[in-house]
Amino acid sequence: MQIDGKTRLYGIMGKPVTHSLSPSMHNTAFDHIGLNCVYVAFEVEEVAQALDGFRAIGVRGVSVTIPHKQAVIEHLDAIDPVAEKIGAVNTLVINDRHIQGANTDWIGAMQALKTITELDGKTVMVIGAGGSARAIGFGLREKGAKILLSNRTLSRGQALAEELGADFIPLTEVAGLRADALVNTTSVGMTPNVDDSPVPATLLENVAAVMDIVYSPVETRLLREAKQAGCRTIDGRYMLLYQGVAQFELWTGQKAPVDVMRTVLFSRLSQ
Ligand code: ATR
Repeated sequence: MQIDGKTRLYGIMGKPVTHSLSPSMHNTAFDHIGLNCVYVAFEVEEVAQALDGFRAIGVRGVSVTIPHKQAVIEHLDAIDPVAEKIGAVNTLVINDRHIQGANTDWIGAMQALKTITELDGKTVMVIGAGGSARAIGFGLREKGAKILLSNRTLSRGQALAEELGADFIPLTEVAGLRADALVNTTSVGMTPNVDDSPVPATLLENVAAVMDIVYSPVETRLLREAKQAGCRTIDGRYMLLYQGVAQFELWTGQKAPVDVMRTVLFSRLSQ
């Protein structure tokens, strides 16, 4: 696509941000559909100033990443209700200087989970109580799932379980439980700690489907043991893909070219 006077500007704000795969994913999607849009990385320290800058120069949409997902909220003109409950925004939609905040992390996670399990009325065990667990927990609530929340630190786990209206189980006591699905939202099993798993393999005998949000390695010990136990599985790359797909669709109002976005994202992740 030739950049010209009508090119619309999108980007990602974070710090650091140079490693982000979102520019490759979104620019490939814009090109594929033939949209006159470009997506760049903004290393941002001052959130309020950055948002004023986006308003002033007519940036159309921005992805928000670490460390600004919470801090950005007080500077928005409007916020999507689920993003407000989660307390984190990863997407800005900007029209005529008006900035609306949204969260597509939960949408991406639910889209990924839906490929291995139904959600409405199902019991889903969520491991972890950090930011990712919040997004996934509130997402599961939106989709009508019953949540069993487990976390290493009891106080943190109990507090999130209460907010979600979920049952809380200490991580040391999950062994005998049953669930339709299990989601690991912790970093346990991530490179270089590839021999770790957040739950004992025996638990997986009583679970039908397992999603890990860790994507390095693609097949974590948890997913390997889940496959051995006969579970349907999905790896962490898909949440990343589908949160980007949801952003693209919010910004353009068009169906995202999921296949080309997946190809570019997965090939960049494997480099
Ligand atoms: P994020 O925002 O990415 O979710 P976070 O807020 O740091 O990250 O949350 C990390 C989650 O992983 C927490 O639930 C954390 O458990 P604690 O609340 O007990 O800290 C969990 N976690 C990280 N390392 C862990 C480990 N080695 N064993 C068990 N849980 C772990």
